[in-house]
Amino acid sequence: MDDVTLARALHVVGVVLWIGGVAFVTTVLLPAVARLKTPGERVAFFEEIEGRFAWQARGTTLLVGATGFYMTWVLDAWNRFHDPAFWWMTAMFLVWLVFSVMLFIAEPLFLHAWFRRRSAEAPEATFRLIRRLHWFLLTISLVTVFGAVWGVHGG
Ligand code: HEM
Repeated sequence: MDDVTLARALHVVGVVLWIGGVAFVTTVLLPAVARLKTPGERVAFFEEIEGRFAWQARGTTLLVGATGFYMTWVLDAWNRFHDPAFWWMTAMFLVWLVFSVMLFIAEPLFLHAWFRRRSAEAPEATFRLIRRLHWFLLTISLVTVFGAVWGVHGG
């Protein structure tokens, strides 16, 4: 197994853990919280559980970013970022960037506090916003996974 093959395998394991977790939160956890908790309890309860996943997401984001940049460097594939045929390379980078900014900058600095404050004033609207945000992130992630596998394997 060469280095790029190993990096690609680790890259995909990271993607599975990370995006699989986002899918679970979006399609299972958030609907369950909506059913089981009162509007006033939802955001705090959800944040308590998702806090654990946030650490897994931070670790896998680092793994996916490191292996992704390593492959781009070894394959000398930087020019793909200017080529529309390789839109999925740009999509991978953008999805990674959005998650990295949220997990490493926005969430610890202000997003957590903002959600708490907003949920005290408007619990239903805040929870709806959290659900929409998760559906958005899951959709762009799945489109990217589809495009990447399609693109790498000659689609
Ligand atoms: C910094 C961000 C990223 C970079 C630089 C990057 C780079 C790469 C590179 C160079 C490849 C191999 C392409 C080839 O073999 O020709 C690859 C494969 C792949 N990446 Fe990424 N990636 C990044 C983030 C992501 C993210 C966020 C996802 C998922 C949402 C993702 C999903 C995949 C998948 C599914 C493959 C295809 C594996 C295969 O079928 O062989 N990547 N990536």
